[in-house]
Formats: sequence, structure tokens, C-alpha cells
Amino acid sequence: MNRFLNRNSFGDPKNAGNLMSLDEANALLKDWVPNEKLQLHMRQVAANMKAWAIEKENADEETALKWELAGLLHDADWEKYPDDHCRVIIEELEKRNIDPEVIRCIASHGPRVFGVDPESKMDKMIYAIDELSGLIHAYSLMRPEGYAGMEVKGVKKRLKEKGFAAGVNREDITDAISKIDCTLEELIKFLIDHQQHV
Ligand SMILES: [Fe+2]
Ligand SMILES: [Fe+2]
Repeated sequence: MNRFLNRNSFGDPKNAGNLMSLDEANALLKDWVPNEKLQLHMRQVAANMKAWAIEKENADEETALKWELAGLLHDADWEKYPDDHCRVIIEELEKRNIDPEVIRCIASHGPRVFGVDPESKMDKMIYAIDELSGLIHAYSLMRPEGYAGMEVKGVKKRLKEKGFAAGVNREDITDAISKIDCTLEELIKFLIDHQQHV
């Protein structure tokens, strides 16, 4: 199945700074994503993105909201339109005149799948966080203690087990890490710390 978006420009520059409220984004999520597990994945990616923006990028409130919204909505069309993921949510956000940086970030969460190269820091971070966050959560579900006491080395062990969370593409994680200024170990630690309470 080809989900290439075949474009490299998203949204309209005149909509810069045009964001939706978290209430609006959550309403969209409830409406488009009945699957609670998928909702949780999107909330976890959003929490990680927001925390990264604030703690690592010194982001102001508006910028942190951009990162959070991109995380919250990146898989919004996955459940209802799997063949057209993420074209549908991108077109919806363009219709709603949302800030192009948010839309581009969503478009770049899977370069191999959507054919869009992550450019901004926000683009690169959603790419690095998405799959790794999913693998860490899968690991928490197989541990009797959940997230409690989870260690980076345990996550790295699961990463090396090809059969564990087999849908998580290890090459994507390696590629994403090569694009950012952070080691795999640091990112794993950051994600464990920030997604466990979502
Ligand atoms: Fe996705
Ligand atoms: Fe995702």
C-alpha cells in the first residue's frame, strides 16, 4: 500500500500561529478515534512532545502547544482511514486553517511511509518519539509492575528482540536518532519518565 503524500508543502503560511485549543483537539480525537488504546498512544506521544518542547527546547506556551497538538493528532485518521493515513487528518487541519508547522510535523512522523523528510526540530522529534513510545508502552504492559522500576537497559533488550512489538520498525528508530541531538538511551529515559502517567 502506498501512502506517499507526494508533496512537501503543508498548510498555508498565513495561518502561522493559528492553533486549535486542547478541548477542540480532544473532541476531534474522541470523534475520530473510538479505540482507547490508540487514543492513549496519541496522548502519550503528545505528553512526550510537550515535555520535550518545554524542558529541552525552552519553548514558550504557544510553541509547546504546537508540539502537543502535533503529537495528539498525528494518528487521528489511522482507525477510520488506514489506507489514507495521514492524508485525511492533514487535509482536515488544512481545512481548519491550522498552523503549517503543526501539519508538516504530522506529515513527517513516518518518512519511509509518507515520503516527507523531517525538517524542523519538532518534525524530527515526533519521528524519534512515535515508534519508541509505542515500544516502551508495549513493554510496560508485559511487566507485572508496569512502568514502575522500568530501566533503559530493559527497553534496549526489547528493542533487540525482533519478535517483541514486531510492528515497531527498529531501523526507523535508529534513523530518527541519527537526526537528533540526543542518544537512544537519553530518549528512552525521557519517554519512560514522561509517558508513564498519561
Ligand atoms: Fe502514524
Ligand atoms: Fe503514532
